[in-house]
Amino acid sequence: MAKYEPQSAYAESFRYIRANIDFAGIDEEYRSVMITSPDPDSGKSLISANLAVSYAALNMKTLLIDLDLRKPTAHKIFPECYSSYGLTGLLKGIVEMDEAVIQGDTPNLSVLPVGVTPADPAAILNSEKMKELYDSLYSEFDRIIIDTPPLMSVADAQTIASWVDGTILVIRNNYTKQDNAKKAIQKLNTAGTPVIGTIFNNTSMKMSDYYYGNG
Ligand SMILES: Nc1ncnc2c1ncn2[C@@H]1O[C@H](COP(=O)(O)OP(=O)(O)OP(=O)(O)O)[C@@H](O)[C@H]1O
Ligand SMILES: [Mg+2]
Repeated sequence: MAKYEPQSAYAESFRYIRANIDFAGIDEEYRSVMITSPDPDSGKSLISANLAVSYAALNMKTLLIDLDLRKPTAHKIFPECYSSYGLTGLLKGIVEMDEAVIQGDTPNLSVLPVGVTPADPAAILNSEKMKELYDSLYSEFDRIIIDTPPLMSVADAQTIASWVDGTILVIRNNYTKQDNAKKAIQKLNTAGTPVIGTIFNNTSMKMSDYYYGNG
């Protein structure tokens, strides 16, 4: 994790990705960014977490939202941010925002975990309450990084793409099929939100060898 070794080449790769996002958004700031991939198991959650850590290190008030309501993992990456309430508790009105959003061990970084995995993720994502919550978080934080489910299997990420400022597609080496990558980009384009870039997650290399490219 970038948070444990800020001097590592791995952390450096996230500073590079962060710089590319900020440079791409030089005219129009990418304040909220969604991370997705065509297929499961591509490194989305790890990349989301590390990117959030990288923004927090710039003294930006950063929020990581776990919107993979089907297979949430933010509370595993940041165990100190585990909560049985989280997003679903907040939407149900069981807790307030300040209890659902958890400030973990990393300065400037807050995490909104899923809480109890909901029965109908699509209904939550399409609800008016969810959109209102997103809007109020958007005005409260400098940067929002959102982890999402894979694009090819469910429509969740496409729904989320319609709210955020920009999306990033994670492609995993020897795994993501070119055809799925193309279809995923088409789906993101349909949502009308800019695809800021793709991150090539080369899992056969060391964690430090991330490559970031535009397009
Ligand atoms: N660059 C990498 N090198 C080695 N292992 C990696 C790398 N990136 C991710 N992994 C591993 O691959 C697995 C999947 O990573 P992660 O959970 O971040 O993917 P995901 O796209 O969020 O998956 P899901 O679609 O299930 O949500 C994890 O076990 C993670 O540790
Ligand atoms: Mg994941």
